[in-house]
Amino acid sequence: MKEFKVKVPATVANLGPGFDVLGMAVEIYLTASVKEKEGFVIEPEEGDALSGAVVYIADENKMQLPVNITIEQGPDAVPRKSGLGSSAAARVAGIMIAGKLLGLDLDSLDIARKAAELEGHPDNAVPAAVGGITICYKSAEGVEYKKIDPAPGLKVVIAVPKLQTDTEEARKLLPEKVSVEDAVYSVSRASLLIKALVEGDFDSLSEAMKDRLHQPCRKKLIPGFDEIVTESLRAGAYGTAISGSGPCVFSFAPEKTAAKAGEAMVNVFKDKGVESEYIVTEIAKQGAQIIE
Ligand code: HSE
Repeated sequence: MKEFKVKVPATVANLGPGFDVLGMAVEIYLTASVKEKEGFVIEPEEGDALSGAVVYIADENKMQLPVNITIEQGPDAVPRKSGLGSSAAARVAGIMIAGKLLGLDLDSLDIARKAAELEGHPDNAVPAAVGGITICYKSAEGVEYKKIDPAPGLKVVIAVPKLQTDTEEARKLLPEKVSVEDAVYSVSRASLLIKALVEGDFDSLSEAMKDRLHQPCRKKLIPGFDEIVTESLRAGAYGTAISGSGPCVFSFAPEKTAAKAGEAMVNVFKDKGVESEYIVTEIAKQGAQIIE
């Protein structure tokens, strides 16, 4: 067997108003290497999303995995339970590894659909598999997506606090019902967001990244969230929102103020007694890849 690696981008889901719909791959990567190792059998431990996905695909296809391989996940570049899609990235990696080991012909839509099925929502899994910024929706065939092509000039600034949020727990905070007024509020911002990104109307982003579906009820898990938004905008960010279900917070910003926006976010966390760091990154145009 030839040894190979998989490289899968982290993702920012929701992008503010696009709850369970919009997602974006960023240039922070999970890597995993597949190597030969005599007599090794993959037996996923509880919570091991990557090996779990490998075994899931083998079982689904009623195929045996080779018993002489080991999968090693690289240094933890995508922090777990942080709102950066670490489990979706791990599942995409596992599905691609299984596909390669078993000779399955999985295209990026197959991989995205499988990973979305395992995740329960598509907005991290799809951009992790296909890259870029994606709009996800469901048809009779399953999850579908369209990519949007953002205008140039956007940096992505991510504040990573030393906190963890369990997505399942964060989903329990969602309201069971929303008013038509709140739904209209969010749909209008999501529509505005797409136009702002595609046409480079970045001054609209601060308004376009507001929503009333998930951020109002989840922000209590993020100390100082409202101040983080205010201070990052004051420091020059275009717009700021919760990354996925949090606790990471991200901004779109121009290059010249990206670091300042990151510092502003970290300073608010510090005032609230929370240690954090910031990362300035880019939208990852390419999704998950196998490197031979
Ligand atoms: N759309 C999902 C949620 C993303 O907000 O619960 C989780 O990363």
